[in-house]
Amino acid sequence: MGQHDAVEVIVAKRDGRELSDSQIDWVIDAYTRGGVADEQMSALAMAILLNGMTRREIARWTDAMIRSGERMGFAGLSRPTADKHSTGGVGDKITLPLAPLVAACGAAVPQLSGRGLGHTGGTLDKLESVPGWRAALSTEEMMEQLESVGAVICAAGAGLAPADKKLYALRDVTGTVEAIPLIASSIMSKKIAEGTGSLVLDVKVGTGAFMKDLARAQELARTMVSLGTDAGVHTVALLTDMSTPLGLTAGNAIEVAESVEVLAGGGPADVVELTLALAREMLLGAGLDAVDPADRLADGSAMDSWKAMIRAQGGDPDAPLPVARESHVVPAPASGVLTRLDAMAVGLAAWRLGAGRARKEDPVQAGAGVVWHARPGDEVTQGQPLLTLHTDEPERFERALESLEGGFDVAPGGTAYTPDPLVLDRIS
Ligand code: URA
Repeated sequence: MGQHDAVEVIVAKRDGRELSDSQIDWVIDAYTRGGVADEQMSALAMAILLNGMTRREIARWTDAMIRSGERMGFAGLSRPTADKHSTGGVGDKITLPLAPLVAACGAAVPQLSGRGLGHTGGTLDKLESVPGWRAALSTEEMMEQLESVGAVICAAGAGLAPADKKLYALRDVTGTVEAIPLIASSIMSKKIAEGTGSLVLDVKVGTGAFMKDLARAQELARTMVSLGTDAGVHTVALLTDMSTPLGLTAGNAIEVAESVEVLAGGGPADVVELTLALAREMLLGAGLDAVDPADRLADGSAMDSWKAMIRAQGGDPDAPLPVARESHVVPAPASGVLTRLDAMAVGLAAWRLGAGRARKEDPVQAGAGVVWHARPGDEVTQGQPLLTLHTDEPERFERALESLEGGFDVAPGGTAYTPDPLVLDRIS
């Protein structure tokens, strides 16, 4: 690794030049060790956001972040591994039914997940609403559970891509999350370091996602797929709609309850559709595509895997889930057809009700969130409950209601409504 200094690297990117391998290796290593200051890395992140990176730079940046920590491996398992990552959406609880479902089909699913920040919820926050469940597992516990149950959803240890942990927290407070090179390298460094054999990316597109338009989402997906493929991971991306929130709930315990409905063979049609679409891709990547995941939902074996997965991590899958102390109903303002329910509005409302956190050290409320009683395309009657808001702290209702203003449309009865497809594109 050559000797460089931070200002030289920042100025190069500020002026639109391509960074050398040695500059990239040096800056990631020095930042991880504390030799490059946060304010210098934020300037560099902003220069990357504004001026972009070439494919070569992104690949090197990703590799340097992988080398900042340890690498795991699942070669010792008897099952093939398949993992999934979502770029984050509102009501996106898909990991919860998906991991046990794919395990029930014969794969090992190592889901190293994070907590939510901002308006999209975190999988660990959702699962922590299950009484007794714990997110922290040792590597040995994780391996044992992968072999016996086939699915683990746990916190990523501090050793995996530590450069990304530091950089992601910095980007979050410096307006530099939305850079494609930084998102792609952040996600893929963790997945490649984790050592999964195959990976399915759910790249969200729409008002409630990082990527608001299809062209940018396609670019992000192509970048991640090529990083994964070059690293020897079988990688596929589905681009899916995030203009409308998924299912009928956004929060923590209420999303767990909806996921359990899916595992019991019911649940909202869009959640079932996306769970099955992602499961089929994961099974294809793992070489297990002779199994139909719909059969495993129908015969109860996915539910058995869910219960085993929750129990293995100290949780009681049969215990009642926490319920918020207060609720507030938003009635339909008119009779007609619900033609729009905005994902960002709902996500912000759930966040303001206490389902998410403003700072990473904040607690979340298990029972908080939003339930909607109609989906776009449904007929509604004036005065009927359209949304129910839940929180332990009623002073939160006002700001949550503000975020829902202009967040939905009801058109006159009989108005034709054509739903957008849920899966918009596939990139491999
Ligand atoms: N998720 C990540 O892990 N990293 C990003 O940069 C964005 C979403």
